[in-house]
Amino acid sequence: MTAQIIDGKAIAQEVRAEWKVRADALKARGITPGMAVIIVGEDAASKVYVANKVKACAELGLHSEHIVMPSDTPEAALLAKISALNNDPKIHGILVQLPLPKHLNAHKVIEAINPDKDVDGFHQKNVGALVTGETPFPSCTPFGVMVLLEKTGIAIEGKHAVIVGRSNIVGKPMALLLLHKNATVTICTSKTIDLAKHTRDADILVAAVGKANFITGGMVKPGAAVIDVGINRNAEGKLVGDVDFASVKEVAGYITPVPGGVGPMTITMLVANTVKAAERLSGFNK
Ligand code: GUN
Repeated sequence: MTAQIIDGKAIAQEVRAEWKVRADALKARGITPGMAVIIVGEDAASKVYVANKVKACAELGLHSEHIVMPSDTPEAALLAKISALNNDPKIHGILVQLPLPKHLNAHKVIEAINPDKDVDGFHQKNVGALVTGETPFPSCTPFGVMVLLEKTGIAIEGKHAVIVGRSNIVGKPMALLLLHKNATVTICTSKTIDLAKHTRDADILVAAVGKANFITGGMVKPGAAVIDVGINRNAEGKLVGDVDFASVKEVAGYITPVPGGVGPMTITMLVANTVKAAERLSGFNK
């Protein structure tokens, strides 16, 4: 069997067009959705992600601010910047790119963001709302995976979804979103004993472990949908996922490529959350 390749770029374009309609409706009422992205320090991968986020906002006619702060920024200065953005009526979404330099307390920084502008969905108020199924801002990567599954017509209800990775950014919110759609959910980590026993039972397998080519064909159930959230550089410097694409595509029913799978969806859902934040803050809720 050769898996159907899920074209994240094409689906992202389709979803962006849907959200542009909502952004344009707000603009017609004099409100331009605005997003601020803060990056602290010089992490090369983060710089690329942030540039892509700002570019996507521009493409949809959103206002965006790209705030670059030096790696030795004192915590107080970062908190002051966030406070100013919380009070800035042009800004509806605030994102602080992670990871932060070690001297900064990421938890404290995230909690300083107004939860109504927390388009990453990382603030505890929104994480709590995610648990009860009420969050306005599902975290962008898991939200993007859900949209990819839905747009590809992959059934979720009753299926066994296995997630490898337990991060706050992907693994945990991913589990909750799938659970709300009535999947049976297993969360594994890279340390899970006999990991392949679990992954081989997955109808939907989400790899978010941050290890290049970690999931191999022998770990996948024939016909499964395999979603690769990883972005790693291999020994030759090439961008690869957590899934060994060559072996897994011979077993799976569906597979996302890296690049061009989940990545474009993450950025799209950030734009979506920003438009939604602008709708909510301006009282034009859908
Ligand atoms: N670093 C990696 N992914 C993300 C994300 O979705 N949001 C933020 N703020 N930082 C990240």
